Amino acid sequence: MKGTAGNHPQKEIKEFVRKRYGEIARTRRSCCGSSTRAHADAALSMGYSEEDLRNVPEASNMGLGCGNPTALASLKEGETVLDLGSGSGFDVFLAAKRVGPSGEVIGIDMTEEMVLKAKASASKYRYKNVEFRLGEIENLPIEDNSIDVIISNCVINLSPDKEKVFQEAYRVLKTGGRIMISDLVTEGELPESIRKSFDAWAGCVAGALEKNQYLTAIKRAGFKNVKIVSERTFSECCSQAQIKSVQVEAYKRTGRTKT
Ligand SMILES: C[S@@+](CC[C@H](N)C(=O)[O-])C[C@H]1O[C@@H](n2cnc3c(N)ncnc32)[C@H](O)[C@@H]1O
Repeated sequence: MKGTAGNHPQKEIKEFVRKRYGEIARTRRSCCGSSTRAHADAALSMGYSEEDLRNVPEASNMGLGCGNPTALASLKEGETVLDLGSGSGFDVFLAAKRVGPSGEVIGIDMTEEMVLKAKASASKYRYKNVEFRLGEIENLPIEDNSIDVIISNCVINLSPDKEKVFQEAYRVLKTGGRIMISDLVTEGELPESIRKSFDAWAGCVAGALEKNQYLTAIKRAGFKNVKIVSERTFSECCSQAQIKSVQVEAYKRTGRTKT
């Protein structure tokens, strides 16, 4: 289940991904240009609304997600939410509106440039209920049993150690807490040439697990009621495989419950 991008060590994959997203944070235009419109259109096609777009700092929408509006819609006032791989903060700012002043949203990202960008937006627009931390999702800088809901948008596929990510998610959730994540998975086998490519890994393809393997990794971490809430074809990768965008929900429960 650990990713290898061929036989490249995990550390190399992570460094490549970090560097790539650092470049993206530095170079993608974030205001007033055609790229901003393209990012807005991309978000609308994933199910976000025009109102959502008006409610967040424009610089936070970099068009990097694969869709998480249902997760955001399920949030309730007062909840403590954690966003794994928060990038420039798009979903964090939307979640902050949902949970209100009595709630809190924490975004974690390993790329310093992304965290700085997100913090700049939070400070410019005086958000009081958001916090951005530099950190890795395989080693969360978060206390045990402290989070109500974990969201994540197109990030876990980038991790070379997905089992550890789900174990960490389980550790930090309160009992009864849930994950509502959007991610890319595969149906069919990706060709070896794609699996080995660093570019394809950073592009959210090479690291994507086969759909059932992904769900198994979540169950093995201890989650119950693991369910795909929605699914759509993200891209036709090649003749033998498709890339699917899935939204998955699962719960941390105690006692004997159905998986
Ligand atoms: C495709 S972007 C998605 C960003 C954001 N969720 C969004 O929807 O706009 C992936 C983000 O995940 C971060 N990331 C990738 N692997 C990570 C890891 N192992 N730990 C923490 N952050 C990671 C990257 O730095 C990048 O900001």
